[in-house]
Amino acid sequence: MSDIFDVSNKVVMVTGGSRGLGKAMCLAFARGGAKVVVASRKLDECEKLAGELRDGGAEALAIACHVGHWDALETVVDEVVAHFGRIDVLVNNAGMSPVAPSLLETSEALVDKILDVNLKGPLRLTALVASKMATSGGGSIINISSVASVRPAPVTTAYSAAKAGLNALTAASAQEYAHAGVRVNCVVCGTFDTDAAAGFVRNEETLPYVIEPIALKRVGQPEEVVGAVLYFASAASSYTTGTCLTVDGGVRP
Ligand SMILES: NC(=O)c1ccc[n+]([C@@H]2O[C@H](COP(=O)([O-])OP(=O)(O)OC[C@H]3O[C@@H](n4cnc5c(N)ncnc54)[C@H](OP(=O)(O)O)[C@@H]3O)[C@@H](O)[C@H]2O)c1
Repeated sequence: MSDIFDVSNKVVMVTGGSRGLGKAMCLAFARGGAKVVVASRKLDECEKLAGELRDGGAEALAIACHVGHWDALETVVDEVVAHFGRIDVLVNNAGMSPVAPSLLETSEALVDKILDVNLKGPLRLTALVASKMATSGGGSIINISSVASVRPAPVTTAYSAAKAGLNALTAASAQEYAHAGVRVNCVVCGTFDTDAAAGFVRNEETLPYVIEPIALKRVGQPEEVVGAVLYFASAASSYTTGTCLTVDGGVRP
């Protein structure tokens, strides 16, 4: 039987690829023989990981990309296509989840920033990359969402709303681009041990409260998101589009 999870030779772009969940994805794609584009704001961090991937035998490109800068994204996509000839898989992984003291104290500037990075950037990249995929036989777009999109908490209201928008973007863009052979799916992440969650995950006082509603009684390690991403990136999910898959260790409803 052929490997339905095969990603070899696929050109895969991971936003927020330099650290955390994105880094785990880049490492897994490289191990699977994919050509990996590591994209985040800090080019030196992307270069560092791309160098590691190349040392391991993979083809890799580092690219500076602030997903909140709408007007710069077309150039980023064009650079990737100029380098590798196409994009087969886009992972809209870059995100930010600042905690706001209260809704009343949440400024317009903060809301704009949260929406720019978590929703508008993925929307624009989906449009740009899906259009390219449509001319090269199709592809797979994977949005990295959060359980906050379906179980919103007061301190992250704007983030929850942005990620709920990302879930809606997944469903709508899956409908829009299906005719072009582009599938769009979403991974709804629970709590993982990354820099973004360090404040409450790498803290002995808060950790018990974090894991209390989780059936597996622990937070996830970054490598544990990889299976879902490889599933959506590969032929294993060829009849799946517009859906959200939750990877959260079993959070109590
Ligand atoms: N960790 C969790 O518990 C958790 C839970 C639910 C959902 N998620 C989601 O999972 C995704 C990854 O989170 P993470 O925990 O891996 O975060 P992380 O460890 O903080 O890493 C964030 C990554 O995104 C990049 N980045 C940040 N802002 C960016 C921007 N504006 N444009 C481009 N790249 C940017 C960072 O690199 P630079 O600094 O170089 O830009 C870094 O590579 C996010 O969408 C997050 O919302 C995480």
